[in-house]
Amino acid sequence: MLALSLLLSLLGTAANAAVTVYTNIPGVNAPISTSTAAFAQSTGNSAYSSLVLVAPDPPIGLQKDVPIILSTTTPAGASIGQKGSFLGFSVELSIADAILGYNSTVLNPPLLNYLANLKERAGHGPTVRVGGNSQDESAMFDTTFTDAFGHQRMIQKWRVDNGNPTETPNINFALELFYTMGNISALVDADWYFGLAFDQPFNDSNAMTVARAAEDILGKHLIALQLGNEPDLYAGHGRRPAEYGIPEYFTEYSHVSCAALATKPPIPMVLAPRGMIVCCTWTTLEVIQAGYLQQFGNWINTIGVMHYPANNCGLSGVINPQDIFGNYLTHKAAQTFVENYLTTAPAVLDAGLPFVVLETNTASCGGFPGLSDSFGSALWGIDSAFALAAMNFSQVLLHVGGQSTSYNPFTPPPTNMSKDHMWTTGAVYYSTLVVAEAFGKSNASQIIDLNLPSEFQPGYAIYENGVPTRVALINFVSDASGASDFNGVISFNGGTVPDHVSVRYLEAPSVSEKFNIKWAGQNMGSAIFTSDGRLTGDVETVIIPCDQAANNCIVPVKAPSVALVFLSDDALHQSSPENEASSLTFATSVYTGKGQHPIIDPAILKTMNGDGGTGPRHTGSTSKGQSMQQLGAAARNAAVPAIVSLFALALGVMLVAGRG
Ligand SMILES: *[C@@H]1O[C@H](CO)[C@@H](O)[C@H](O)[C@H]1NC(C)=O
Ligand SMILES: *[C@@H]1O[C@H](CO)[C@@H](O)[C@H](O)[C@H]1NC(C)=O
Ligand SMILES: *[C@@H]1O[C@H](CO)[C@@H](O)[C@H](O)[C@H]1NC(C)=O
Ligand SMILES: *[C@@H]1O[C@H](CO)[C@@H](O)[C@H](O)[C@H]1NC(C)=O
Ligand SMILES: *[C@@H]1O[C@H](CO)[C@@H](O)[C@H](O)[C@H]1NC(C)=O
Ligand SMILES: *[C@@H]1O[C@H](CO)[C@@H](O)[C@H](O)[C@H]1NC(C)=O
Repeated sequence: MLALSLLLSLLGTAANAAVTVYTNIPGVNAPISTSTAAFAQSTGNSAYSSLVLVAPDPPIGLQKDVPIILSTTTPAGASIGQKGSFLGFSVELSIADAILGYNSTVLNPPLLNYLANLKERAGHGPTVRVGGNSQDESAMFDTTFTDAFGHQRMIQKWRVDNGNPTETPNINFALELFYTMGNISALVDADWYFGLAFDQPFNDSNAMTVARAAEDILGKHLIALQLGNEPDLYAGHGRRPAEYGIPEYFTEYSHVSCAALATKPPIPMVLAPRGMIVCCTWTTLEVIQAGYLQQFGNWINTIGVMHYPANNCGLSGVINPQDIFGNYLTHKAAQTFVENYLTTAPAVLDAGLPFVVLETNTASCGGFPGLSDSFGSALWGIDSAFALAAMNFSQVLLHVGGQSTSYNPFTPPPTNMSKDHMWTTGAVYYSTLVVAEAFGKSNASQIIDLNLPSEFQPGYAIYENGVPTRVALINFVSDASGASDFNGVISFNGGTVPDHVSVRYLEAPSVSEKFNIKWAGQNMGSAIFTSDGRLTGDVETVIIPCDQAANNCIVPVKAPSVALVFLSDDALHQSSPENEASSLTFATSVYTGKGQHPIIDPAILKTMNGDGGTGPRHTGSTSKGQSMQQLGAAARNAAVPAIVSLFALALGVMLVAGRG
């Protein structure tokens, strides 16, 4: 019944060595009727807002030629070695099924493509965190949940009527969620953070069972577990008594850490709390100063923070996105972001722990329509990611909300349209492509802010193994006249520039643009509901000859755009998909119902790694006031032989594709 086919796109090779032009299969852009778009927009779902803001006027007095003077060896103050997976994603637990897939055998190919694009550039899989506010009152069950239509769901939302109208729904999730994550990892090498509930800290049964299951199933792909989300907000949200503070938090944390250490083998890897300076009561620094690292330092492996530069929660009145658009279109936005951590970041690094922004985006409470989905948000995302990398954060994760959030890097179609429509790429997704290529595959990319004079023209240099390899230049200004374009005039201090550089551009007509965006000539969807997660169009890499006698390379940077300058062909190669001619994509389709519903069977996934899979299924039970059934696991095991028969087919396709 399943019409299964694995399509690997294999296309023509580069024309010559210097100019790299590689092609991709154009995405299947499903025609979308105006009425459907109008419908989606009329639902008020912010993910499909048609609001387009007015770009700020170009500032006057911009420099035309901006000197970029590079040292020939790694300069003092350059960051720690950064990875191509620096910028990843954070998925709210309550929508994990909509994003990741229906279950472990019905994944979402668009998601796999969004992730695979990054893997190809970084040389290893992207990082995804599953958690958020909805993790805190979640519980895991062995079996899936039957919904009103008789479908088996991995996520069940329910609400306790406690009189609090803003209460996040409580989440029950099935063990199946971890198998789903595991199968995604088997395919695109994704690594995970997972959020544990912390609502009953002195009752370990749930958190410990979930932690064990996550470890057993995800293995090396589990980076860390996050125990509790935003504990500094617990008192304010009525989840703890009003006097709940850092000491009470430590007592609870200590209880769970002892429980985790007492398990055999001990569960390590539980990550720190948040410390959000912008809106909340404790900062990470206060938690550290209270002795967090001394008390828990040998147990945790990462320190995480949540940070949004603004909010759309209506806390202090409604903000008109147009009024604050300009705040994002300057290097000051990134500088303000990192300034919050000037003391904290070195303290975390001194403790030998990576410092991670577990959740961020343009603004909390869903972001701002017109702003969070604009090209401006992509520029903000790139500048902020680079500034945080320069500040020695090791990873930053962009939050993905649901249908009602504006800032999503990608949004699946609404549930009742999912069979007929494709996904929607948010402008901020392009940031992840640019950052992945800026750091490339070496894991040794040390970045430094060039501190260029204009806040509208920031730039960064990247060094690997002691030599400059890339330069990133951002033009935040929207100006179609060309008057605000600038030239980055690159020269080497104590050396001679190469005879040419290669440049890839992230471009759009305006900072307000939502879909007419290109990274190196390629696009991710021309409207809402038009993306399958693949890049379409030909890759364009611009070769710019340098003047070695004058010791400079002149790189034009249009207003607005980002120029990523590769200082050697090797640096370009190290940032490009491994096999430039064949991007790995997931176009597998299973036809269900009348429309095309792209899904992939993970039977294929195992064969990708040549690896038959995992350890024993986790059968430990947990409950939230309900008794557990082993029935689900047994039923699933019974279904396995049917899946196995597809392996050969998948492998056959793989081999053919591999020789192409
Ligand atoms: C980041 O770490 C490197 C290496 O330890 C150090 O030289 C640099 O000063 C740090 N940067 C900041 C902003 O703390
Ligand atoms: C996933 O859902 C599909 C479609 O309903 C079903 O055929 C398959 O058995 C499910 N897989 C598991 C592991 O439950
Ligand atoms: C992938 O899903 C299948 C079917 O549910 C499951 O048996 C297998 O363990 C999963 N693989 C991983 C790596 O989680
Ligand atoms: C989807 O659901 C909404 C209500 O949530 C309804 O108004 C709309 O007609 C449905 N759309 C389709 C295509 O069924
Ligand atoms: C970079 O780090 C990732 C893990 O995050 C690893 O899988 C990969 O092999 C590393 N690459 C290199 C070149 O060391
Ligand atoms: C601990 O939690 C589990 C499930 O969440 C519940 O069944 C059990 O009764 C709780 N134990 C105590 C002592 O509260």
